[in-house]
Amino acid sequence: MKVKLTEIKNTQARREDGDIKELAKSIQEVGLICPLTLNQNYKLLAGRRRFKAISELGWEEVECNILNSENELFDFRVAIEENLIRKPLTDIEMATAIKEYDELKRKLYGSARRGERTDLTSPQYGEVWTQKRTAEDLNISQQAVSTAIQIAGAVEEHPEWAKKTGRQILHILKDEREGLDIHNYIRPYNLWSFAEPLAGFGKEYPGRMPAQIVINLLWYFTDEGDLVVDPMAGGGTTIDVCKIMNRKVMAYDIQPIREDIKKWDITQGFPDECSNAQLILLDPPYWQQKKGKYSADESNLANLSLDEFYVKIEALFVDAQKILAPQGYLAFIIGSTIKNIGREDHALKCYNIASQYFNLIYRIIVPYPTQQYTGFDIVRVKENKQILNLYRDLMIFQKKT
Ligand SMILES: C[S@@+](CC[C@H](N)C(=O)[O-])C[C@H]1O[C@@H](n2cnc3c(N)ncnc32)[C@H](O)[C@@H]1O
Repeated sequence: MKVKLTEIKNTQARREDGDIKELAKSIQEVGLICPLTLNQNYKLLAGRRRFKAISELGWEEVECNILNSENELFDFRVAIEENLIRKPLTDIEMATAIKEYDELKRKLYGSARRGERTDLTSPQYGEVWTQKRTAEDLNISQQAVSTAIQIAGAVEEHPEWAKKTGRQILHILKDEREGLDIHNYIRPYNLWSFAEPLAGFGKEYPGRMPAQIVINLLWYFTDEGDLVVDPMAGGGTTIDVCKIMNRKVMAYDIQPIREDIKKWDITQGFPDECSNAQLILLDPPYWQQKKGKYSADESNLANLSLDEFYVKIEALFVDAQKILAPQGYLAFIIGSTIKNIGREDHALKCYNIASQYFNLIYRIIVPYPTQQYTGFDIVRVKENKQILNLYRDLMIFQKKT
C-alpha cells in the first residue's frame, strides 16, 4: 500500500548510509523496485537508505509492505534480517554477471579471439568486443574480468562448485593445472582453518573430515612409509591422503562404504595387523549428533547413551595404547553437542579419560567452515541460552612412558 512519507517514523539508529545520490538516481530512472517495510504503526523496519533517497527526490508517498509486528524483538529481527545480514552478491553471482555481460556484448559486437585483430569493426556496432572493453564498461581491471570469466566458466562445468568462493575455485583450478602441493595447506599455528574440504579426497559422507586436517597430521607426526590407522574411516579421507603422501594405511569402519575400508567394530579392539602404528587417527561420531545417518548397529558409537559412549571411548584409548609404536601419536578429533542448556563438552571429558594413558602434546582448534548466522539465530541463542559451536577440538597425544 502507499504511505505518505510524513507518516513514516524512521527511528533506526543513524549509520553510515553510503552514496545516497547514486541510489536516488537509480530510483529516479527505474522506479522503486523494492518497497519499504513498516510495522502497523508505520515504524520503518527496513529500507532506511531507500527512504532517504526518495525523501531527497521529494516524493510525497511511497509503496510499503506493512508487517504486523508482535513486539520490539520482532521489529529488531526484521531489521537485522533486512538491513544487517542482507547478503551481497556472492563471488560466483558476481563472476557470472560479468561473464554474461561480456558474452552479451560479444554477441552484439562480434568478438575477437585471442591473437586476432581487435581493431576490426562490425557493420552494426563498430569495433568488435574484447575483455578490455568489458573492463572499461564495468570500471574494473581486465585481470578481474578474465578471473571472473574463469570462475564462472568453471562453475558452469561443475555446478556442484556453486557454493564455493571464487578463491577456492581458483585454488582448485591451480591444483588441477600444476598438481596438488600439500605445502599450500600446512598450518604453522594451532588453528587449522579450512574453508572447505579439498575436492577428490574421501567420498561424500556425513561428518567427512577435510583432507587438509589429515595432510597436516601426516606432515607433522609421520614420515613416508609409516603406518597410519583409521578405525572409523567413514568416507575414506585418511586413505586418500595417505596414498598421495606415501604412508601405509589400515582403515576400518563398522559400515564400510568402500572396498579399501575393512568391516570392523572397533569396540572389539584393534586388529593385530595394526601393530606398531605411528599414528592412530580417531574421528568418532560426535556422540548422537548424526544419529540415524550412520549404521543402526548397537555398537555404533552414535547409538550409545552418553555414559556408554564414554565407556567405549575409554576402551578405545586403552586399546590404541597397545598397538601404537613406542613414540607413536594418537590424534583425536571431536566437537561438542547440544544439551538442554549449554553443550556437552566431549573434548574436555575425553581429555580427562585419555590423560590417564596419554600425554597431551597439542590441542588444535579446527573451525567448521564459515557459518552464517541470521537474525533468528541471534534471538534463539539468547532465548535458549545456547551459544553456537564454531569449532572442533583436535587433540594430539603420545603414550605415557
Ligand atoms: C565422523 S565419521 C568419520 C568420518 C571420516 N573421518 C571421513 O573423513 O569421512 C565416524 C565414523 O565412525 C564409524 N563408527 C561408529 N561406531 C563405530 C564402531 N563401533 N566401529 C567402527 N566404526 C564405527 C561410523 O560408521 C562413521 O563412519
